[in-house]
Amino acid sequence: MSEAAAIELRPMLIGGDWVESANGESIEVENPGRRSAIARVPRGAAEDVDRAVAAAAAALPGWRRLAARERGRMLLDIAAAIEERADELGRLIATETGNALRTQARPEAGLAADIFRYFGGLAGEIKGECLPLGENLLSYSRREPLGVVGAIIPWNAPVGLGAMKIAPALCTGNTLVLKAAEDAPLGVLMIAEICQRFLPPSVLNVLTGYGEEAGAALSRHPAVRKLSFTGSTEVGKLIMREASERLVPVSLELGGKSPSIVYPDVGCEDWVVDGIGMAMRFTRQSQSCTAGSRLFLHEDIFDAFLDRLVERTSSIRIGDPLDEATDMGAIINRTQFDKVCGYVEEGLGRSDARLVMGGLPPASGPLSEGYYAVPTVFADASNDWRMSREEIFGPVLVAIRWNDEAEVIRMANDTHYGLAAFVWSRDVTRALRAAHAVEAGWVQVNQGIGQILGQSYGGVKQSGIGRECSLEGMLDSFTARKSVTVNLGIPDAPAS
Ligand code: NAI
Ligand code: MG
Repeated sequence: MSEAAAIELRPMLIGGDWVESANGESIEVENPGRRSAIARVPRGAAEDVDRAVAAAAAALPGWRRLAARERGRMLLDIAAAIEERADELGRLIATETGNALRTQARPEAGLAADIFRYFGGLAGEIKGECLPLGENLLSYSRREPLGVVGAIIPWNAPVGLGAMKIAPALCTGNTLVLKAAEDAPLGVLMIAEICQRFLPPSVLNVLTGYGEEAGAALSRHPAVRKLSFTGSTEVGKLIMREASERLVPVSLELGGKSPSIVYPDVGCEDWVVDGIGMAMRFTRQSQSCTAGSRLFLHEDIFDAFLDRLVERTSSIRIGDPLDEATDMGAIINRTQFDKVCGYVEEGLGRSDARLVMGGLPPASGPLSEGYYAVPTVFADASNDWRMSREEIFGPVLVAIRWNDEAEVIRMANDTHYGLAAFVWSRDVTRALRAAHAVEAGWVQVNQGIGQILGQSYGGVKQSGIGRECSLEGMLDSFTARKSVTVNLGIPDAPAS
């Protein structure tokens, strides 16, 4: 028996059944911390997408007819069941993504449970409006599901992002075909397995496969009535192009190159320095769309701040994602690892860039056995460099000097992205002025934490369209308003 054949195949979920792909082909899933194969998943393609969409369409009438709170109750049961298996789920996420168990993967499993609980609780809030049009005219609106939703997610926070599609789409009465990322399908399949215990068959279908095959077929399927995508801006444009052919609504959560603007009044205080590291998401290998990857430091504090940042960041422990002592794990795959190294090489090759920490990953020793990158900071950067303009999706931070507020805002906004931004100052007036001037969907002042449930989250410019993480986001993204207008002024029925 060949080694590949010995690796277990984890089937996907179509129409309530756990199945292989129609073509019988599969994809190997790798542990990026060790570069070893851990499982195989079906290489879903057009035929599988057809079956999944047909199953979702068949399940729709029954699902949408259920009282919303009945659906919500199922989501709450799913939340509890995820919580029970959170440790197992966290380990699975760490193994397939390379994200450190303690700092990332376990919290992500907990977040997934929270997401189901949050949306399950909102089921009673899917309300319409009533218009005051006079005694004889009743006009009210209903929030109706859109139909079969096609959702596509990336690998960086696969279970959290999967939950962010499943819970609001199902809560509002849609049925769903979700395609997991080829690099991280296992945690999503586990969520599907848990969901399946509580949901009627075919309401949720989860496909594995490549983007160009399963993803593309899903995005162009004529029976899919809504597309919800999280991933790169490049693929987001393809999704929108497909959506435009059939005029279906899209939600796009795409990339970013988010600025962190540090005013001189905060000096080099630890909470700011640590906040910059957190905003940069170093412990996620900076594989986050909201990473504050352009650091605008005022010239008065520039060098001292970087010294302090190097000191504090050096204590981050990089290594085996499953080791509880590890703060920061591995990059998802060879392609992304090479891409990140390419940016570092470019920086090292520039005579005008000053490396203040990190650099290329170690070529020998334990870290060379996985796709481990190291926190890297280039100083004296220019906002025009490729490193400063493109989403690196790796732990490479550029520090840019500023001295004039209008100029730093101009630089912060000189990007085609507009996802997140971070402003650091004890002067609230100044901080809010900057927060309002910066072009971003989400600005944090004096902190750099992750997304919060209940807060409408999403980007402007090429960082995306639509909002999903809140009640309003759910209603706008997954329902259509239907207005019903009733004439109450008709004459009495003639006497018979
Ligand atoms: P990607 O955007 O290609 O992949 C995300 C998802 O889209 C995956 O499920 C993939 O299978 C699917 N997909 C790919 N091509 C498709 C197509 N033609 N039609 C339909 N679905 C398709 O991201 P990738 O290649 O993994 O990473 C490349 C870069 O994208 C990263 O370096 C990063 O800059 C960015 N990215 C941003 C994310 C974010 O959350 N903002 C998440 C993942 C990647
Ligand atoms: Mg891609």
